[in-house]
Amino acid sequence: MLSTKLPKMFYGGDYNPEQWSRETWDEDIRMFKLAGIDVVTLNVFTWALNQPDEETYNFEWLDEIIDLLYSNEIYVCLATGTANHPAWMAKRYPDVLSVDFAGRKRKFGFRHNSCPTSPSYIKYARMLVEKLADRYKNHPALVVWHVNNEMGCQCYCDNCEKEFRVWLKKKYGRLEELNKAWNTRFWGHTFYSWEEIVLPNLLSEHLDANNPDKTAFQGISLDYYRFNSDSVLDRYLDEYEILRKATPNIPITTNYHGHATYKPLDYYKWSKYVDIVAWDNYPAFDTPESTTAFRLDMMRSFKDGDPFMIMEQTPSQQNWQPYNSLKRPGVMRLWSYQAVARGADTVMFFQLRRSYGACEKYHGAVIEHVGHENTRVFREVAELGAELNKIGDTLLDSRMDTKVALLFDWENWWAVEFSSGPSDQLKYVEEVQKYYNAFFSRNIPVDIINAEADLSKYDLVVAPVLYMVKDNLDKRIEEFVHRGGTFVSTFFSGIVDENDLVHLGGYPGKLRNLLGIWVEEIDALYPGQTNQMVMKKEINGLKAEYKCGILCDLLHTESAEVIAEYGSDFYKGMPALTRNEFGEGEAWYIASSPEPEFIENLIRSICDEHGIESTLITPPEVEATRRTKDGKSFTFLLNHSEEVKHVNLPEGIFEDIITKKIYQGEATLEPKGVLIITPVENESVNR
Ligand code: GLA
Ligand code: ZN
Repeated sequence: MLSTKLPKMFYGGDYNPEQWSRETWDEDIRMFKLAGIDVVTLNVFTWALNQPDEETYNFEWLDEIIDLLYSNEIYVCLATGTANHPAWMAKRYPDVLSVDFAGRKRKFGFRHNSCPTSPSYIKYARMLVEKLADRYKNHPALVVWHVNNEMGCQCYCDNCEKEFRVWLKKKYGRLEELNKAWNTRFWGHTFYSWEEIVLPNLLSEHLDANNPDKTAFQGISLDYYRFNSDSVLDRYLDEYEILRKATPNIPITTNYHGHATYKPLDYYKWSKYVDIVAWDNYPAFDTPESTTAFRLDMMRSFKDGDPFMIMEQTPSQQNWQPYNSLKRPGVMRLWSYQAVARGADTVMFFQLRRSYGACEKYHGAVIEHVGHENTRVFREVAELGAELNKIGDTLLDSRMDTKVALLFDWENWWAVEFSSGPSDQLKYVEEVQKYYNAFFSRNIPVDIINAEADLSKYDLVVAPVLYMVKDNLDKRIEEFVHRGGTFVSTFFSGIVDENDLVHLGGYPGKLRNLLGIWVEEIDALYPGQTNQMVMKKEINGLKAEYKCGILCDLLHTESAEVIAEYGSDFYKGMPALTRNEFGEGEAWYIASSPEPEFIENLIRSICDEHGIESTLITPPEVEATRRTKDGKSFTFLLNHSEEVKHVNLPEGIFEDIITKKIYQGEATLEPKGVLIITPVENESVNR
């Protein structure tokens, strides 16, 4: 449980009292209480206010608001406020200003752009956090620390360049090793001194301002991404260490970016250092539910299934999308429960009161510009607040049971998209999402794991576009399959090692034996161009033929059996889908990017074959998940459609934990409706 002080789902969010008068604070607190809000995130963008100059700190306003909140039984998620350096600091210590990809040094402005290796930033951020930790470590209102905010800044300044060399020295030891890893004899890049190495940006290895992925040296660019992710992580750890020391028992976190798949930061690596994962959930007007579900599952998987925080979501609309449509009535509630359904133990908003100037004044908030509680948004927030109060601690710390893992690896992602050829059309996140959708539509719970994860607890592991096979991943997958697991892999897999150097001797390199195939050539199809996967062997539930595109591997089987073959072009008749028996298990290879229906059907057949069950079979647009705790199960039914839906329930009698209504046989869901049902004993129903 996040905090024994507040044994329920935290409900609240980002609050910026520093933008408002003292009288407004009282009004806000009155309304927070009306809405059932019990946690507010404070102090996110306040460095300039808290430290007007080098020597002076000013926390009185913060003391006052924290005390005021606490006296009203509202707890505090306390941000450290290091997400934007003050203007005076930028003027006096320009090393805090980052340099962008094009090599331009920024001036003061915007946010989230302090150089992650800047000595001045490091010094002053630490000092600020020490003061803050010392001042509030014993405050009873404090329930969680919020380091910085949506961290991340890819900087190309001279200092980062120096630090990059230090990082490289530590990694490679000798320059010869680095030259080998980067294959620097290509295009005459041999380095004779560490000082010769420069950061890979638009002035060096990258040439295309519109496509920052285009690099001449994948090895250098990969190492820069690793280095930058580590540098930003070091800044998080600076703060973490100070806070940990001051408050051994208060959880520490930082909020991850809204896309979840935020490319610059390897969040699997990061998640080892947060006490609880926290995420800002911002679906766009056209984001499918399955995409949000994928991101939520990733958040839960970052720490092996532990519950996570929704740190931010908008109660109504955003300001930074091209079209900031309102969440329709019921949608904020539905999406809040969608997060809970997949492992969230908090529901929090950005923002509690709408600011009245600058770029977020048209961002939705619990308290709108009108300033009172008689608004649609406020009413919806207050209704949800009352429900969460009723639910209390019932769901806290409950977990999901998963038999399927989908492999998503940040370094693999970087490498796939840094790749010069075979195709710009290949987008890693999209490819993984295609496979996720097949499980989502069947309500089959999935973990999203990275290349380091333990595979042994799964029955099925799907690794789309596993281009980079590093360390002993191949051995671990082999072991998993040998013991009876099912492995599904796709085109463009097994090609390179961690330095993006090709595994020689035929693709898919170290996966060749497991998959029982050998790939000779890779064809790239232009947008709209397709080939066909024609079934050679009948598989339950699969049609005779499907379209495929993006890439087509031209492969030969060694020990694998051919299940489908290409339908046209000069490689017509070559294998397009293979299956290899390996030990007690099997390994599939899908040689091209098929239409979604193929993936749906194949995954369904594999799951049926191996007894991997749906949580519940539901009508289209009804999502079902299950969390369990102390032997008790909670099944979430979420109706994403505009229509009433009927869901057949498993045998037994169930109670909805929100309304306490009893269900048996069938449940009816209102449009955008939510049910969280748990089995009840016959006796308690009759009582
Ligand atoms: C991010 C930030 C917040 C706010 C919201 C607006 O998530 O963390 O400070 O800017 O976006 O959607
Ligand atoms: Zn820098």
